[in-house]
Amino acid sequence: MRQPIVVVLGHVDHGKTKILDFIRKTQVQKKEAGGITQHIGATEVPDQYIRKFCNPVLEKMGICVDVKGLLFVDTPGHAAFSNLRRRGGSVADMAVLVIDVMSGIQPQTIESMEILKNFRVPFIVAVNKIDLLPEYKSRPGSFFDNMRKQTPEGSTNLEVKIYGIISRLNELGFEAERIDRVEDFTKQVAVAPTSGETGEGVVDILALLAGLAKKYLERRLETTGITRGNILEIKQEKGLGATADVIIYDGILREGDTIVFSGSEGPVVTKVRALLKPMPLKEIRAEKKFSRVKEAEAATGIKISAPDIGRAVAGSSILVATEDNMEDVIAEVQKELKEVEFSTDDVGVVVKADALGTLEALVKMLHDKGIKVRMARVGDVARSDIVEAEEVKLCEPFLGVVLGFNVRNCEEALAADKRIKVITGEIVYKILEEYEGWVEEEKTKIRERELAKLPRPAKFQIIPGYTFRASKPAIVGVEVLGGLLKNNVDVMNGKGEVLGDIKQLEVQGKSIKEAGPGSKMAASIYGPTVGRQIKEGDILFTSIPEADYKKLVKFLDLLGDDEKEALNEIVGIKRQERKTWGMLTA
Ligand code: GTP
Ligand code: MG
Repeated sequence: MRQPIVVVLGHVDHGKTKILDFIRKTQVQKKEAGGITQHIGATEVPDQYIRKFCNPVLEKMGICVDVKGLLFVDTPGHAAFSNLRRRGGSVADMAVLVIDVMSGIQPQTIESMEILKNFRVPFIVAVNKIDLLPEYKSRPGSFFDNMRKQTPEGSTNLEVKIYGIISRLNELGFEAERIDRVEDFTKQVAVAPTSGETGEGVVDILALLAGLAKKYLERRLETTGITRGNILEIKQEKGLGATADVIIYDGILREGDTIVFSGSEGPVVTKVRALLKPMPLKEIRAEKKFSRVKEAEAATGIKISAPDIGRAVAGSSILVATEDNMEDVIAEVQKELKEVEFSTDDVGVVVKADALGTLEALVKMLHDKGIKVRMARVGDVARSDIVEAEEVKLCEPFLGVVLGFNVRNCEEALAADKRIKVITGEIVYKILEEYEGWVEEEKTKIRERELAKLPRPAKFQIIPGYTFRASKPAIVGVEVLGGLLKNNVDVMNGKGEVLGDIKQLEVQGKSIKEAGPGSKMAASIYGPTVGRQIKEGDILFTSIPEADYKKLVKFLDLLGDDEKEALNEIVGIKRQERKTWGMLTA
């Protein structure tokens, strides 16, 4: 019988990693980019530790620990990582579903429950962050002890929240009960109040998991004969070169075994050179110290040193092959990679990521947003990615980009040279936000360029006492009352009579192209004569042809309020003048 795998699932930020940190006495959570988990992690908690950690709760609950330990698998709760939650669920023997007491059941809580139901994984619920409940005084240790020390208000506040969650669980089809009131753990889902902050209740869930493991899992824990694992990460280690952090969830992996996994160019077959085990209670994602072992039995987290292991695609399966099953194993590995990595001729973005799981997550997020993907591959941003993006850019400028999660851009100079936008980052949803922000900016820039070609609405007044020349052209001082006055526009009066056009605008002898409200300047107007068609104090407008008006209304969001007002006035005047304008409204 192998060591059980306990997967920790739940909505983002509900406290999964923090609870594991409390068990391990580590601070993995604090060091995560963006404070969220983005990869699967693994930690072994040995039986002796469980006995020590959970004493005297084990005794009180009458639990005897008869497993070698528990392998905890941490998963991300962010919506993008449903693939990793599914992968976690698929290898799990038991689960802890973490629910934030303040925010209750959230979308990924429900998603996690569906995963557990599909894979028939028994689970317990940790209603976490109870230290945040008003009046409730959370302390380290067992909830069973602490609940008796609460004020009536504290108890009631807890009770209300816990039963709110329990009744939601019941509605969702899970018979649930508070841990101290459960009568039959095989029929009811135990709901344990916990705090990753104070540690309250963490002993209770650990004791319960240890107690339930053997009872429920004996059947599940038989191994199938084929050794299987999942590559979490490829890391460079001093003296070893590239190594792979792996969760072995089935069978036994031995030194010298022939292993098969996905490389970016296809399946790789090699032999295990050395197996390195992280210390118990260390998260393999964050650990630096290892001890060498001859074999690793499921379920366990292990570091593998092997020739060519550096070519492995993180997130892919790793299998032990024999001469007899080599072909099948290779086919299985090949199939898995094909499901995630792809390359098409579509007009879409190029996506790169550090692992299959994160690649899947990023691609899924893009699909959900309706953003097409041309190519998705594991690895750093390379020359070929820039070339692909360049091709796309010819058809669709906003899609000619490379998005990379947790990868390096090895072609910065080339990208700059080809004007290809490369967005890389360590937080998956921020990459998408940055991309969307960039698209908006680019679109605005293009629209601004189009708008710059159009005449703009302006209302302005001839300043009394500032006639420099009466005609050919009339040169008068004007003040802009609203909108944007540009040169080379037609000018009309309040009756809609077009009087001529402005050829030049000048401030203190310097020619300017445009000016906004409040600006004063000299305007040369060809056509009218001061004293006849125009006079000092007159209010004039730019005359906007109907065709330009139709274009202008598409840019209303880029116009200021005073400019829109000026446009409205101009339309009003035009409408009185000519019937055709009657149809248009600004
Ligand atoms: P993802 O892995 O991103 O899904 O999040 P998570 O479920 O692992 O949550 P995490 O452990 O990262 O905690 C999220 C935040 O909540 C962190 O700021 C923690 O310090 C805080 N937190 C977690 N548990 C508790 C708790 O019991 N009480 C309080 N007050 N804060 C908590
Ligand atoms: Mg986490």
